[in-house]
Amino acid sequence: MCGIVGIIGTKPVAPIILEALKRLEYRGYDSAGIATLSGGEIIRRRAEGKLANLERALDDNPLDGIIGIGHTRWATHGAPVERNAHPHVTDRVAIVHNGIIENFRELRERLTAGGAIFTTETDSEVIAHLVTHYLDQGISPREAASAALTELEGAFALGIIFRGEEDLIIGARRGPPLAVGYGDDAMYLGSDAFALAPMTSRVSFLEDGDRVEITRTSVAVFDVHGQPVKRPIRIADVSAALVDKGNHRHFMAKEIFEQPEVIGHTLSEYVNPLDDTIRNTDLPVDLASVPRITIVACGTAYYAGLVAKYWFERYARVSVEVDIASEFRYRDAALTEGGLAIFISQSGETADTLAALQYCRAQGQKILSVVNVTESSIARASDAILPTFAGPEIGVASTKAFTCQLTTLAVLAIRTGIARGAVDKTDEARLVRTLMEIPRHVAEALASDEHIQTLSADLAKARDVLYLGRGHNYPIALEGALKLKEISYIHAEGYAAGELKHGPIALIDEEVPVVVISPVDELFDKTISNMQEVIARGGRVVLISDKAGIARAGDGLWAEIEVPPVDPLIAPIVNAIPVQLLAYHTAVSKGTDVDQPRNLAKSVTVE
Ligand code: AGP
Repeated sequence: MCGIVGIIGTKPVAPIILEALKRLEYRGYDSAGIATLSGGEIIRRRAEGKLANLERALDDNPLDGIIGIGHTRWATHGAPVERNAHPHVTDRVAIVHNGIIENFRELRERLTAGGAIFTTETDSEVIAHLVTHYLDQGISPREAASAALTELEGAFALGIIFRGEEDLIIGARRGPPLAVGYGDDAMYLGSDAFALAPMTSRVSFLEDGDRVEITRTSVAVFDVHGQPVKRPIRIADVSAALVDKGNHRHFMAKEIFEQPEVIGHTLSEYVNPLDDTIRNTDLPVDLASVPRITIVACGTAYYAGLVAKYWFERYARVSVEVDIASEFRYRDAALTEGGLAIFISQSGETADTLAALQYCRAQGQKILSVVNVTESSIARASDAILPTFAGPEIGVASTKAFTCQLTTLAVLAIRTGIARGAVDKTDEARLVRTLMEIPRHVAEALASDEHIQTLSADLAKARDVLYLGRGHNYPIALEGALKLKEISYIHAEGYAAGELKHGPIALIDEEVPVVVISPVDELFDKTISNMQEVIARGGRVVLISDKAGIARAGDGLWAEIEVPPVDPLIAPIVNAIPVQLLAYHTAVSKGTDVDQPRNLAKSVTVE
């Protein structure tokens, strides 16, 4: 993960780098640092923890210099302390690194034997010493950087500045993304276009294996073979405004409450409410004949894929496999030539998802991605994208991106059903009308906010929580458990309700709350039987259901959360709301850092 920035300008760059780092803090917030050249010499400031600490350090001890690099860290090697914060320096270079150097041990041993003195436990520091090693042989900074790059194994996006070189930043990309920004009297390097947006919208994206030499007036890119190449300059469609929390205490709350609006926006891109039809956006395959669909994603996006499997099978009668990207990429999956592979990712930068995409491309799959960031690496590597229109999601816990992914996938499943003759005109009109009701029903589900807040004060005392659901509510149980653990740090697990008696029921006692997601549908009676088995063993059940479901559930509930009665097609989207609110209020009750929970980052660019 980590975010990196580099700037060559005509005025002091440290304040501008700091602003850019604020826009990259979603990539990690374990420590941060900036290095500039002052009178040709490398100077730096670093601080443990969030950027606010670095900002204070800079207030106390400002940095001058019109060339510099900056970093916000998500720790991989070495504790998240100031000593391990980037930039890493020698007396000749300063470097910032996003990624993992896999052969750092061998390099470190060799460089130490040659006299290098290491001061951190990071893998990244070897880059600084390796470049210095080559500089010490009397070659130029450009040559030294190239020579060092050939020795590095692993994944990296890099920025390097050199003592005495006031007009040179070298960047390199192998894996994690790196963008170059073109200003009028300055040039920029950054992990994404969002970081550079306040300075410039003219951006080019480096390809895998590229190295770039940036001066105030020029940008020279070299490909993996060292050949000069041009990477097109695009006008990035990214707002320069930093998103704020509005009237909400946390970004997560704001994003939860934005859902009726952003789902509505997403729907308006994909359905035509005037004639109740699905719009035919460009796709890389003929949905009528696609032999099978493979869906790959991580975390919450993976759960969106699991829900989509139910939809594709039910409405399009097509066989679907869903896998976690980190497993899929290494398991040598046998895929049918001409199959469709769908990748789901809010950030569009998740390293495992991108690697899985590349595997599928090599296996002759057509690549379709559901992404929220249309300038992202996954978007650019796809044959076609279906953007979700959630807007920037800042809270580390995904909420509105998830429901917009679900909305987009529901449309795609119906469209596939139409293409395959499983959905006729009448069905299409009925299903589109049902989709159009999502924003209203999500708003109704949000009305339980206060009730859920009260309930959460008790849930916050739990050590473990189980979530149960069947059918398309099973992935919502998984998502509810993930949301709770990532922001409240309470251990939580989601289970298919029918699996309960195959093991997890042993956990049930009066200490373990069990959240059951079961509105009235064809599986209601079965889930409620499982719920009664929990109650019979003293379990404290929170039932998420509609009015009729709550009435039919029987005695013994600890609490209930009412959701509106909806068509099964859209039930998982509506049922996602109470599990988000439950996690949010529980985390607030516990006083955790809701938007930036410990150990996590918004964009996971290392495997
Ligand atoms: C969700 O709350 C998580 N923070 C996480 O699981 C996330 O969904 C996952 O890392 C995938 O990210 P992506 O959608 O950006 O690929």
